[in-house]
Amino acid sequence: MITVLVTAKDSQLARCIESISKNHPKVNFIFKSSSDLDITKKTHVQSVFNSIKDLDYCINCAAYTAVDKAEEDTINAYSVNVLGSKNLAEACYEYEVTLVHISTDFVFNGTVPVPQPYSEDSNTGPLSVYGETKLKGEKVIAETIKKHFIFRTSWMFSEFGNNFLKTMLKLATERNEINVVSDQIGSPTYARDLAKVILCFIEKEYKNYGIFHYCNRGSTTWYNFAKEIFSLSQKGVKLNKVKTKDYPTLAARPKYSVLDTSKIEQTLGVTPLKWEDSLAIAISRLNKMCNPK
Ligand SMILES: NC(=O)c1ccc[n+]([C@@H]2O[C@H](COP(=O)([O-])OP(=O)(O)OC[C@H]3O[C@@H](n4cnc5c(N)ncnc54)[C@H](OP(=O)(O)O)[C@@H]3O)[C@@H](O)[C@H]2O)c1
Repeated sequence: MITVLVTAKDSQLARCIESISKNHPKVNFIFKSSSDLDITKKTHVQSVFNSIKDLDYCINCAAYTAVDKAEEDTINAYSVNVLGSKNLAEACYEYEVTLVHISTDFVFNGTVPVPQPYSEDSNTGPLSVYGETKLKGEKVIAETIKKHFIFRTSWMFSEFGNNFLKTMLKLATERNEINVVSDQIGSPTYARDLAKVILCFIEKEYKNYGIFHYCNRGSTTWYNFAKEIFSLSQKGVKLNKVKTKDYPTLAARPKYSVLDTSKIEQTLGVTPLKWEDSLAIAISRLNKMCNPK
């Protein structure tokens, strides 16, 4: 058996891991909520690690993910994304556990002259407090423990939690028209696909530690992402394209943040699904959840 601790059990990623856990009978999953395990509290982390016998992996799904709020709530964003990551990395080092951590395309600034997908070695340059704290979290992990995997992902959606897919579907019930930004380009990622990749790394017990980029195949704008959501879910909503400059937000976001996934493709020997195909699966699962037979 491989014993795996998953933090932030209510996050969309942890809920996706939980939903596929039955397909991994060789893995003993232990899920902890933010109240069972507050990663900013060293004593919490120590006592949880101490209570689990023969822990092999910790998947850290906990993060301060409110990108705009982080601009004004820097201390808490730093506390969760940097100190929390450090606490987990130190505990993993002490208990000889491999740390699996999730990071973001927002570590990049998206201002490359000729847009080209970012590789794991590309220069970082976060534009926001969220991106900066996530990058510091990556660095503190790499400095603390060799046995770590950091999966940078982007534009995550799923049938669980709060995300762009669910926000769009909710807005469609409240409004006739929706404005969506059409000049930011990225790659949507189904959290369930990322969950499968993480569990593949764990089951195969890979030892090539470090950073890996993972997102679904293809790239798009938020506007076209929304258009596909409404087309697949057969919702008739009027969508308007807006420019980033006409849709001010507290945090700046990269104009281009497509991730190059060739490293993970070579490692796993598989190509990620196209984002549109994964989106269709997520919508179908969401419909089943909302209308159980
Ligand atoms: N969502 C995206 O588009 C996206 C894109 C790129 C990367 N990522 C990264 O992917 C990872 C998972 O994201 P997600 O969208 O699944 O997250 P999410 O749904 O926003 O959930 C974040 C979770 O972190 C928990 N949390 C916050 N502070 C905590 C603390 N001090 N101790 C323990 N847990 C704490 C929250 O607990 P409560 O439930 O109690 O609030 C929540 O369950 C994060 O590292 C995120 O940065 C996300």
